Amino acid sequence: MKEKKASNYISIRESRKIIKYNIKMMRYYEKLKRRKLAESDYTVKMRDENNIVEIDGLKTCFFTDNGTVMSVNGVSFDIPKNKIIGVVGESGCGKSVTSLSIMQLVQAPQGQVVEGQIRFNSDAAGVSEDGKKLGYDIAKMPTKEMYKIRGKDITMIFQEPMTSLNPVFTIGYQLDEVTLLHDKSATKASAKAYSIELLKKVGISMPEHVYKSYPHELSGGMRQRVMIAMAISGHPKLIIADEPTTALDVTIQAQILELLRELQRSEGCSIMLITHDLGVIAEMADEVVVMYAGKVIEHGTAEEIFFNPKHPYTIGLQKSKPLLSSDANKPLYSIPGQVPNPINLPDACYFKNRCDKCMGKCRAKYPDTIELSDTHSVACYLYGGETSDSAETAEHGSSETQASENTENVQQG
Ligand SMILES: Nc1ncnc2c1ncn2[C@@H]1O[C@H](COP(=O)(O)OP(=O)(O)OP(=O)(O)O)[C@@H](O)[C@H]1O
Ligand code: SF4
Ligand SMILES: [Mg+2]
Repeated sequence: MKEKKASNYISIRESRKIIKYNIKMMRYYEKLKRRKLAESDYTVKMRDENNIVEIDGLKTCFFTDNGTVMSVNGVSFDIPKNKIIGVVGESGCGKSVTSLSIMQLVQAPQGQVVEGQIRFNSDAAGVSEDGKKLGYDIAKMPTKEMYKIRGKDITMIFQEPMTSLNPVFTIGYQLDEVTLLHDKSATKASAKAYSIELLKKVGISMPEHVYKSYPHELSGGMRQRVMIAMAISGHPKLIIADEPTTALDVTIQAQILELLRELQRSEGCSIMLITHDLGVIAEMADEVVVMYAGKVIEHGTAEEIFFNPKHPYTIGLQKSKPLLSSDANKPLYSIPGQVPNPINLPDACYFKNRCDKCMGKCRAKYPDTIELSDTHSVACYLYGGETSDSAETAEHGSSETQASENTENVQQG
């Protein structure tokens, strides 16, 4: 039989097949969202009542013309109450899609949560007969019910405050809107008074003036403060901050992070802080989740991840951080290669082509997560794993890495 050549191109026949499959899947998942569910259908038991959110085996994908992109591929981690959880990883590793899944804001119909649970510890869910705290499974919850949680109990701060604020409405109008939406007893006057109080709380001087201003009249830092005011308006239990300081300069960054930390303590909420910046994580986070190609590859306390990183990727990330003691004449370390394309990834360690410790078994099966302590876990064969192959160091050098990775990730749908 003639062997099919690997190619980056998809034939018209393959393309039609992908489109047909995508339409079928998108229709299926959209129909699931519209079905009528009783509250008991999406009410679940929390594993630990001290967690505000428990993400369990979450899979979120995008049905694209090139094939199914597994953006989040079996992610599990908890967000405890009153804690800051940092989520780090290279661009495209699924940090934002994980957070958008929590908010039910994944771009539909092509983006769909296809598996797993996102248990939200809502006060409204109550307690089960056997005394266990109940929560709502956001992955299953009807969109209409999600409106009650989104923007009130769980809020989000995005990277670019200018695009998050509506340019044609004043800051006051947009702040009042949040209060009026979530507090049915609020009047226009009480909403205005509360908005001005919120602006004061986030450190804006002359709040009455800012209340009447339009977003373009404010600086980037002020706009981000307004976004934070909006996020804390409904006394949220969880704030998701997706790279909240990336668009700001360093001094303003520090002020915004300080404000977030203060508010987290005073409001008693949790923060899921997504960032590329390990320095920000070191300053802010209690726990760190390291993501790679849609999976959690290491999870631990900030001390564990910074002083005792285990996964070769985390070690590489730490090495690529500029330090005051770094030799200015030497180029900064960077991990060779790129994050693999998340379509049709083979069952093997996704980091194998960039890892200088790669062994035979790393190419045979994706490693299981190994618990190193109660708080520290890692998915890497260096710390154990069921395959019995002897440790065989990879003969593949890093120069070969990219070529083989590219061939492997050819997208055929
Ligand atoms: N609307 C979309 N359609 C198709 N693929 C998407 C879409 N949104 C995200 N993806 C894919 O999902 C994967 C994860 O994306 P995500 O935005 O979560 O990355 P990230 O970790 O937040 O990266 P960054 O640090 O650059 O923000 C990427 O491969 C991306 O291309
Ligand atoms: S499982 Fe193997 S390839 Fe993957 S990070 Fe660990 S040692 Fe490297
Ligand atoms: Mg992102």
